[in-house]
Amino acid sequence: MTKLQQFQKDGYLVLEGFNTPEECDAVMKRGEELANGFDYEGHPSVFQTAQQTRTSDDYFLASGDKISFFFEKDAFDASGNLKNDLFHSLNKVGHALHDLDPVFNAFSRSPQMKQLAKDLGLDTHIIIQSMLILKHAKIGGEVDIHQDAAFLYTEPNSCIGFWFALEDATIENGCLWAKPAGHITPLRSWFRKKESGGTEFVELDAEPFSMEGMIPLEVKKGTCIVLNGLLPHYSLPNTSGRSRQAYAIHTINWEAHYPGNNWLQRDMREVKGFS
Ligand code: FE2
Repeated sequence: MTKLQQFQKDGYLVLEGFNTPEECDAVMKRGEELANGFDYEGHPSVFQTAQQTRTSDDYFLASGDKISFFFEKDAFDASGNLKNDLFHSLNKVGHALHDLDPVFNAFSRSPQMKQLAKDLGLDTHIIIQSMLILKHAKIGGEVDIHQDAAFLYTEPNSCIGFWFALEDATIENGCLWAKPAGHITPLRSWFRKKESGGTEFVELDAEPFSMEGMIPLEVKKGTCIVLNGLLPHYSLPNTSGRSRQAYAIHTINWEAHYPGNNWLQRDMREVKGFS
């Protein structure tokens, strides 16, 4: 079975040894440098998926073409001070790392990534967003079950995610969970800008997600997991003493319609594919 056939059958693809440990280390080192340079006075933006809520502030909505920093929901104490150092208080960094930073650009458009895009027939896909997901030891929060296509909605649906394990991902440190062939299911919601400001989830299909058959995708550092945008997936909190850093990029087909009220807006003339 080819990679493409496996991906079409399961809705995801696990590619071990996709990146070298050195490539993973370079991205993590750069991420920490960027985080430590973040002047957060007055800019705290807490990223929280529990109860399907997200900060809908301007900082989040403006992050599509920037390198922005998002805190863990428990990062601050009652008086508003960070409980840990800055780097270990952050949940993620996004959403244009792949275009703005040379180290993330090289990782996102590596020779093996170009080849994979070719193997999957993604010649007309563009990289619409990137995220460094820190999932620090003990504090790294859960990510509720969701479909990536809800956040990168196109007509027709075309969203594909590439999730890179920068460190070993295990059940204890909060690996991804998904179900083989789980992508054969409708898109449940669309996360978009509200006319009155902020964001909203619009229900597209009321069928609840089924948790039956979900399996942990425990993978080694250097593994790439390709995710169909319709595949429901989630991760549990990191309860271990080891971090679980991952980097993710998402692509869409530039030939598909990208609505002007999607939460993430970019100047599409600046959004490129893998070359
Ligand atoms: Fe996701």
